[in-house]
Amino acid sequence: MKATALAHPNIALVKYWGKRDEALILPHQSSLSLTLAPMSVSTTVEFGAVSSDQVEINGHTAKGSERERVLRVLDVVRSETGGRLGPARMVSRGDFPAAAGLASSAAGFAALAVAARAAAGLPAEPKAASILARLGSGSACRSVQGGICEWRRGERADGADSYAVQRFEAGHWPELRMVVAIVNRDEKEVKSRDGMKHTVDTSPYYPAWVKDAEAEVPRAVEIIQRKDLQALGELAERNAWRMHATSLGAQPPLCYLHANTLGLIEHLREQRKKGTPVWFTLDAGPNPVLLTDAAHEVAAEALARACGAVDVVRCVPGGDAVLKSEHLF
Ligand code: PMV
Repeated sequence: MKATALAHPNIALVKYWGKRDEALILPHQSSLSLTLAPMSVSTTVEFGAVSSDQVEINGHTAKGSERERVLRVLDVVRSETGGRLGPARMVSRGDFPAAAGLASSAAGFAALAVAARAAAGLPAEPKAASILARLGSGSACRSVQGGICEWRRGERADGADSYAVQRFEAGHWPELRMVVAIVNRDEKEVKSRDGMKHTVDTSPYYPAWVKDAEAEVPRAVEIIQRKDLQALGELAERNAWRMHATSLGAQPPLCYLHANTLGLIEHLREQRKKGTPVWFTLDAGPNPVLLTDAAHEVAAEALARACGAVDVVRCVPGGDAVLKSEHLF
């Protein structure tokens, strides 16, 4: 009745941006991401040993929507097993550097899904765990497995065909690097969840985004297959720009970019002209993630720092979410 899992975060190369179903977290388009090591989140779940549900994240008792999202995942497991499991205790802890600037929710919900299924005695199935993780946070469905994962949008109204599949193992391209450049530590004003809804509802560019992003996924897979860093960098940059363009076109406009975000992007362009193979991607926030290879990760870090990055985190391709024998309680 007790299990612990560890999962890594991921960064999308083709972003997920916008839901067709808010409750089930079903996207309008497919997306593709790289799972990132060494950062991870570990989560322990135990059913039946407490009198009411207890949710603790990074040393704090979770409240409000944070707690509800966790209970939602646990409730699905409870109903799948006929309601015999009882109240749950869940403790989750991330080892991210405080300023990593990476959303821990993807790793957190992937670890929760894998741990909750194991604690309930359900078999280890990446597809079922991905669907479960998706109910907590969309991008979490791509953190159940390592390497490069594709979240297929699916067609069904119940979400049974909307989950992530692994396209390449972490060992396919071990020299690939992502360098997170923290240029601004402030909490963003508009969360991804709200920003994407506002964009879907008001941006005239949104339908074009959906069509374009869907077509980019197979192109990205083909590029990764042949390990073409320049082609992947160019694809990642244009996909990030197009995602941000939809939000800039919303009413009222939504801009996640800061002055120093643009400063770093401009500097990257100059460095590329001088022969450094480094590109960026950008989630719904001001901090670029640089895409490069092992031979240039130190140069990428130096470049980010020269542009005012207050913190830099160097990442390598990460592996699957795994069960661990040491529990958090
Ligand atoms: O899963 P959420 O609700 O945190 O949304 C993630 C959205 C982006 O990070 C901007 C893109 C992505 O695909 O991860």
